[in-house]
Amino acid sequence: MTKYIDEAKAILAANDRGGYTVPTDRLYPFQWNWDSAFVAMGFAAYDIDRAYRELERLAEGQWADGMIPHIVFHQPSDSYFPGPDVWRTNHVIPTSGITQPPIFAMALRKIYETAVATGSVANERTLTLYEAALKWHRWWYRARDPEGTGLVALLHPWESGSDNSPAWDIALARVPTTTETPVVRKDIGHVNPQMRPRDEDYGRFIHLLDTYAACGWDPVEQWQKAEFKIADIQTSAILLKAGEDLHYLAGVFGRGGEADEIATLNERTRQALKAQWRSHLSRFVSRDLLAGEDVAAATQAGFIPLLALDLDEATADAAAAEMRRWCKGMKVVFPTTEPTSASFEAKRYWRGPAWAIINWLLINGLHRNGHAGFAEELRQSTISAIETEGFAEYFDPKTGEGCGGLGFSWTAATYIVLEKADSSAIQ
Ligand code: DGY
Repeated sequence: MTKYIDEAKAILAANDRGGYTVPTDRLYPFQWNWDSAFVAMGFAAYDIDRAYRELERLAEGQWADGMIPHIVFHQPSDSYFPGPDVWRTNHVIPTSGITQPPIFAMALRKIYETAVATGSVANERTLTLYEAALKWHRWWYRARDPEGTGLVALLHPWESGSDNSPAWDIALARVPTTTETPVVRKDIGHVNPQMRPRDEDYGRFIHLLDTYAACGWDPVEQWQKAEFKIADIQTSAILLKAGEDLHYLAGVFGRGGEADEIATLNERTRQALKAQWRSHLSRFVSRDLLAGEDVAAATQAGFIPLLALDLDEATADAAAAEMRRWCKGMKVVFPTTEPTSASFEAKRYWRGPAWAIINWLLINGLHRNGHAGFAEELRQSTISAIETEGFAEYFDPKTGEGCGGLGFSWTAATYIVLEKADSSAIQ
């Protein structure tokens, strides 16, 4: 509806800090990596120049080795912890030292295709961003899959974007809560503490940060010293989908050698992801590399591979049936933790709430795998949650209540994209 589209655009305008968008005021006062990529796709619907700009400003934070960090600290702010003084990285624009899910190339293809369709394509800008994305994908495979398994590993829960997901509980419990850096949380001054990660989680988050800072952020040393190392299916699936989009763009620019290189990496990840399907659970599972065990926790990550795989009908049907089971009795879907599991918490950040951007990925995955009707239900649920509660960070799936930060950029961007879409695939 126009009224809500206008509100969504007003949120993106209010969160603009000069060519980049903060996720929300005060709670997240810098540029976040995957937030910005989703936001760029929202902008693509009505302002191509601004969409390109969002990715360009993010790429300003790219390290020489190709990593695009999870936060770019373009301007100072004292409303967030941990800031640049805690990260102690050496990039010319201060950045964090870890990364986040690589939505970037998905956004770039979306912007490019929309620009072509509206006669506003900027080839030079697209090519420069394509090269940044390629460098980053190469980094993922070099730094986070040195053994060439096809699945990329996270060394910090924040890299998943799903910071305190039950998926990390067992692995994170092995990480000491002790820190060299004093933990001075600012988030719980902005948002109800019951909705945020717990203090002991923060102790562990900062312990890992200290460990990697002591490695001088060298990827090889971090890989050796990591006390948290998860080959993650959500990130790997996003990397593969983004890899498909990168492959498409390599074709557009006649980069045959690069297209072959990307196709080889994609195929490795495709096969590795397929091998993580567990038929007795009707979902995919990540792998705890330090324990040598599957990550059994039932979270949304188990279904994100639908985004990037073409499953056989029986597997797709089993995944969709399991997803439907999780949705039973929920006012807003999709819950990010299986609602009957002991670790489910309806309002606490990534331990159960429904997130618009996760729905966006799942909607695309369901379309890709022959479940358009279910995808449409998810789309409607997301739109109606936002129209009822506003552009909240996330939603309590049991009551529908909007939770976390308000005036949230990626919820606004998702609304713009989902509202425009009919029942065909939206990506
Ligand atoms: C936070 O500070 O909550 C972020 O999710 C870390 O990126």
